[in-house]
Amino acid sequence: MPTHPSRSERPALLGGRPACAIEWPTWPVHGAREEAGLLDVLRSGAWWYGEQVHRFEREFAAFQGAAHGVSCTNGTAAIEMALRAVGVVPGDEVIVPAYTFIATAAAVVTVGAVPVFADIEQETLCIDPADMARNITPRTKAVVPVHVAGRVADMRRILEIADARGIAVVEDAAHAWGSRWRGRAAGAIGRCGTFSFQVSKNITAGEGGILLTDDADLADLCRSFSHCGRTTGGAWYDHDRHGSNLRMTEFQAVLLRAQLERLADQMERRHRSATILDERLVGTRGIRLLPPASDMERRSHHMIIFRIDEEELRLPRARFLEALRAEGVPASEGWYRPVHRNGVFARAHIGPRHGILAPLAGMGADYTRVECPVCEQVCRDAVWLPQHMLLADDHAIECVAAAIRKVAEHAESLRDAGPR
Ligand SMILES: Cc1ncc(COP(=O)(O)O)c(C=O)c1O
Repeated sequence: MPTHPSRSERPALLGGRPACAIEWPTWPVHGAREEAGLLDVLRSGAWWYGEQVHRFEREFAAFQGAAHGVSCTNGTAAIEMALRAVGVVPGDEVIVPAYTFIATAAAVVTVGAVPVFADIEQETLCIDPADMARNITPRTKAVVPVHVAGRVADMRRILEIADARGIAVVEDAAHAWGSRWRGRAAGAIGRCGTFSFQVSKNITAGEGGILLTDDADLADLCRSFSHCGRTTGGAWYDHDRHGSNLRMTEFQAVLLRAQLERLADQMERRHRSATILDERLVGTRGIRLLPPASDMERRSHHMIIFRIDEEELRLPRARFLEALRAEGVPASEGWYRPVHRNGVFARAHIGPRHGILAPLAGMGADYTRVECPVCEQVCRDAVWLPQHMLLADDHAIECVAAAIRKVAEHAESLRDAGPR
């Protein structure tokens, strides 16, 4: 390191010039197609669960290579519906990864079952099949692998283990629109898969969700559940099955159809950005890139996650992020912390049972003893770069790589100048 770095070499946090003077693409992206579609629906007066919704279901299912799509209000509801449809009932256990959004585990609680947390793999940040296997009991009814950031979990081993034990595999593909793994698409590999279209997602209508499956009977059950327990061809006020109202509106569907048209181009752009970052950052001191996903043909890149080695850099992650943001990179530590550390699980063994305050009380669950060391470590050292940033041009992404390298190279001076 030079003794007197020039202004452009010096970290922005220490008075240097930021590496990224970039106006990042905003999100969500929309255009003439969304506007025209929304106006058409508005003027038609046909706002309710109709042709647009069913077209979107068919188009999205075809895009992911699944036979059936059942839309719903959001990704959380889609997981709940999936769990009910595969036969999860109160008292069953469902294995979920500890590194995910709360919804994966909350859906299990909502259907009255008990989430059991498994650790993740270093290589994929998705559920570790070996730890999943260790957590199987006679009460295990399903497992919900999450394809974190669009990286498909090790579905080969997960299906092998689950099939041998008669356990249903429900993919939480909330981040994996368009991800392809060994010739198959995310969400169409297990018994069924679920997706989210919430506003941060790579295809969005503000809110929305869908379940995909090749199983016609399962799709029929889900359609019935999402539509107040009605059955296809049945009378309007006949409700032979239990259901809820999870219907999507025509406004959401018309937006999603437009967003889906744009997705392939955006995926290519994100892929290019991810490749540039990988190439430029490989071998950077203290930066731990995830290994390439050689088993995947395409990847959604809902975000880029890399990890830092605080010991090698001798710099806390908070300071690393502060410096990176000062360079103009919208990086964060990510929203995830080990899911079982949230109060709803951490306090599950105390207090009286209550549907919202303590839904698992009295069910024998004690999450204070859960051990997921890989997840714990990843929650301490991960850095997330958001998907909309990856839509920027090559120059912008080169600047991001330069910023990360700069911060890593100047870790020592950043530490020395930092708060003690
Ligand atoms: C992994 C994962 N699963 C499920 C969900 C739930 O989706 P929604 O917000 O549409 O309910 C999300 C949303 O952020 C998610 O990230």
